Amino acid sequence: MKLKHFNDSVLKVNQTLSTNDLMWELLATKPYGNGFTVVAQAQTKGKGQTGNEWVAEPGKNLTCSLAFKPNLSSQKLFYLNMLVALAIKKTLADFNLDAVIKWPNDILVDGKKIAGILIENQIQGRIISQTVVGIGLNINQTNFELNRPITSMAIELGKEMSPEKIFSTLYKQVDAFYDLLENQHFHTLKKLYTNQLYRMDTWAEYAADNLGRFTGKIIDIDDSGKLVVDTIDRTQYKFDLQTIRFL
Ligand code: BTN
Repeated sequence: MKLKHFNDSVLKVNQTLSTNDLMWELLATKPYGNGFTVVAQAQTKGKGQTGNEWVAEPGKNLTCSLAFKPNLSSQKLFYLNMLVALAIKKTLADFNLDAVIKWPNDILVDGKKIAGILIENQIQGRIISQTVVGIGLNINQTNFELNRPITSMAIELGKEMSPEKIFSTLYKQVDAFYDLLENQHFHTLKKLYTNQLYRMDTWAEYAADNLGRFTGKIIDIDDSGKLVVDTIDRTQYKFDLQTIRFL
């Protein structure tokens, strides 16, 4: 596979605790090139955001972690999330699924979560020296024990899909969107991201510690990834990760 930024080196393992953790262990032993990836058939302790567990039936889904060294200041961390979310969204579009991005890290199809992203960074000074991007994408699993709206490609498309094919498309897409980051096209990245954003420019219900329940409209994402929300009384608020709930 000819790629622009990543050298095509992928390690496939049958089982690991978490591909993110395995990647950090590997990176501690020697430096790996941009785009080095670990894909696991099964994770026994997959990690989700905010300390949650990421549960995926073995062999049915995509659980992988990509390593790269973005040329990025730590204040611009969120642009990484943007590019990965856009790459997942585009991958799903390539398989005829129309997804939206729910800030900060969820990909939804038909209002249900189909993929999640867990990005971990090592920061040196003000520069991100190493990043591990973990992606969990539900492909062929059709039963979920979680009582949250959740879906998979097989549920949405009515047929089983090839995880290898989907991974290879996703890998190409991450490489392609990575170009925008390397070339510091932050404005373009943000525009693409906000264009796909669930509830962008739409009045909806939220809850926040400082405001309680309120009606708001997402109008932007700032450089550090905060959600910028207008309220009915025309006051503007910025919300950090985990300080606002979508109702
Ligand atoms: C979330 O939405 O909560 C983020 C989920 C991220 C899951 C992936 S699966 C591959 C990688 N390894 C992990 O332990 N977590 C991420």
